[in-house]
Amino acid sequence: MSASFSQSTELQSWKTLQDLYDSGAKNLSVKEEFAKDPKRFEKFSRTLTNHDGSKILFDFSKNIVNEDIFNALIKLAKEAKVEQLRDAMFAGEKINFTEDRAVYHVALRNQSNKPMSVDGHDVTAEVNSVLAHVKEFSEQVRSGEWKGYTGKAITDIVNIGIGGSDLGPVMVTEALKAYSKRDLHVHFVSNIDGTHIAEELRACDPETTLFLVASKTFTTAETTTNANSAKQWFLEKAKDESHITKHFVALSTNAEEVSKFGIDTKNMFGFENWVGGRYSVWSSIGLSVALYIGYDNFVDFLKGAEAVDHHFTTTPLEENIPAIGGLLSVWYNNFFGAQTHLVAPFDQYMHRFPAYLQQLSMESNGKSVNRANDFVTYSTGSILFGEPATNSQHSFFQLVHQGTKLIPADFILAAQSHNPIEGNLHQRMLASNFFAQAEALMVGKSKETVEKEGTPANLVNHKIFLGNRPTTSILAQKITPAALGALIAYYEHVTFTEGAVWNINSFDQWGVELGKVLAKAIGKELDSKAEVSTHDASTNGLINQFKDWSA
Ligand code: F6P
Repeated sequence: MSASFSQSTELQSWKTLQDLYDSGAKNLSVKEEFAKDPKRFEKFSRTLTNHDGSKILFDFSKNIVNEDIFNALIKLAKEAKVEQLRDAMFAGEKINFTEDRAVYHVALRNQSNKPMSVDGHDVTAEVNSVLAHVKEFSEQVRSGEWKGYTGKAITDIVNIGIGGSDLGPVMVTEALKAYSKRDLHVHFVSNIDGTHIAEELRACDPETTLFLVASKTFTTAETTTNANSAKQWFLEKAKDESHITKHFVALSTNAEEVSKFGIDTKNMFGFENWVGGRYSVWSSIGLSVALYIGYDNFVDFLKGAEAVDHHFTTTPLEENIPAIGGLLSVWYNNFFGAQTHLVAPFDQYMHRFPAYLQQLSMESNGKSVNRANDFVTYSTGSILFGEPATNSQHSFFQLVHQGTKLIPADFILAAQSHNPIEGNLHQRMLASNFFAQAEALMVGKSKETVEKEGTPANLVNHKIFLGNRPTTSILAQKITPAALGALIAYYEHVTFTEGAVWNINSFDQWGVELGKVLAKAIGKELDSKAEVSTHDASTNGLINQFKDWSA
């Protein structure tokens, strides 16, 4: 589905938004808007209901918007044909046109089993058959029925993968640790740095370790190298190659490479090329999640995402939570010139959530060419960053509060803790910070107030907080598998909405190729002792110094 425009700046609503910005929105005081409108919170917050009836509240009211801006943003989504592109995605059309692929991760969480087709072929049965395999296998491993080569049950799972074949599984297993089988340990090896695998394997015994080699393509250099090292480590003790069957499984789309590696394709959990790497945690790439938290919880995770898919596809844009999130991001990015977006979960279990979102957002929308093959004339993807709060409050929040940059932020909190220790004292302190940070960023602290406090004249300016820094507060009841599934799907569709408005292809990733190709060539040069002179002077100098020092 191609858009009827090239540059999004051509859209009438884009011009309206620019006029609104120039004629006052840039100085719109959110604090004053609250004073003017007692219903502002109700007007700009939305509640999502999950499949199990649990809810997540999205409070957009602390953003720099009023009704005119909000309406113009909704109009922008309409003119940019966000709904049409969304419908094309859910219809299995090949909207990833540079790779000629459908973008169909949403079919992986189709728990209601509605027909979902690519190229006229309903994929539901295949998806369900992989899920049945995941169920059978995860139950065998968790119950101890699946035995290693010496007849012992599995105690350690090592997922070897990188990018989307790592970040989702790591983040979800950490976020849902409270649901885990505590005597089953999960490890993740992604980095080609030998330290990663070496350190993870220190805690493992080949007799009781199961490796999941997770790679969509099964050609990613880091993953195949790490997987070969794992195989060697295993065979040092197990000796016999026939034991590999019990200890290595593959999560991949590439059966040929899987069997070349020596894994029996019986032990392969497949998926199709319409699943992008950064959207693959819902596929068999999520096997480590199912092993760790159990199949039923994994299904609940899928159902949470499906509930958001349902919301995204059936709710008018004015009420559509991910669409609103995406449009606000465009508002700050393209009209306020914001370069970054902060996501801070007030939840220690979610400590890898920002890292996960970095790939989702930046690999999707870090693009300069639009769907009409023209270079865009406006800014696209934000630099997403984040760390869990309250830790981040004690590191980079200074810049968010008083720096010279506008940093739109999302704060995430669950009302109920999985660890309500000390009579829930910790949770109350955590929550008080969640509310206080968003409030402080909005209300700031005026010169007048600082002076009234008797601040010495030379410190007054240092203690002023300008405020009016936008935040979206996301309040869940509890981070259950369903709630986490919903939050991820929310961000997927936020990213989708942004990309649709920017008229870019959010589903390819050509930008990762050049470095890979150069690294391969340099790898060969590092194999020889000869001095290198084929690059620019800096690269030659660095390579030759490395050769000298590492010899
Ligand atoms: O290099 C980027 C990338 O292609 C990501 O998009 C992907 O998630 C990652 O590499 C891993 O790819 P694979 O699962 O094929 O090993």
